Amino acid sequence: MISKAMQDALNDQINKELYSSYLYLSMAAYFEDANLPGFGHWMRVQEAEEREHAMKLYDFLLERGGKVMLKAIDAPKTEWKSALEVAEEVAAHEAKVTASIHALYETALKEKDYAAQVMLQWFISEQVEEEKNAAEIVANLKLIEQRGTAVLMLDHRLSKRGGD
Ligand code: FEO
Repeated sequence: MISKAMQDALNDQINKELYSSYLYLSMAAYFEDANLPGFGHWMRVQEAEEREHAMKLYDFLLERGGKVMLKAIDAPKTEWKSALEVAEEVAAHEAKVTASIHALYETALKEKDYAAQVMLQWFISEQVEEEKNAAEIVANLKLIEQRGTAVLMLDHRLSKRGGD
C-alpha cells in the first residue's frame, strides 16, 4: 500500500503534468493563430506527451492501491511576443518540472518506496530529453535572430553529408 505522503506527492505531480499539457495546448493555439503550423505541431506533440506523463502517474497510483485526487488546473497564459519567447518559456517550464520530479524522487527515497523510485527513473531520463530539446529550439531561434536563416540551412545541409 502506498504511503499518504507518496500519494499526495504523486497527485500534485499529476496536476503539474496536466498544467503542462494545458500550457502547451495554449502555445499550440498561439502558433497556429500566428500562421506557424510547424511550431503548432511541435506544441501539440508536447501537449499529448504531457497527458501521457500524467496518465503514467495516474495508473501507477491506481496499481498501488492509492487514491487519485484530481485538482483544479490553473489557466495558462494565451499571449506571447515571439516564437523565441515561447521556446524560452518551454525551456524554463521544463526545468521547473525537472526540479519537481527530483523532489518527488526524494520523497520516494524518504518513504522507502522502491516501486516509485523505479517508476520515477523513467521520468528523470525523460526530463533530460525534454530539457535538451527545448534548449536546442531556443538556441536555433537565437541563431536566426543573430545571423539569419542561412547558417541554419547550411547546418542542415552539413548534417546530411555522407562520409566518403
Ligand atoms: Fe512532463 Fe515535459 O515534462
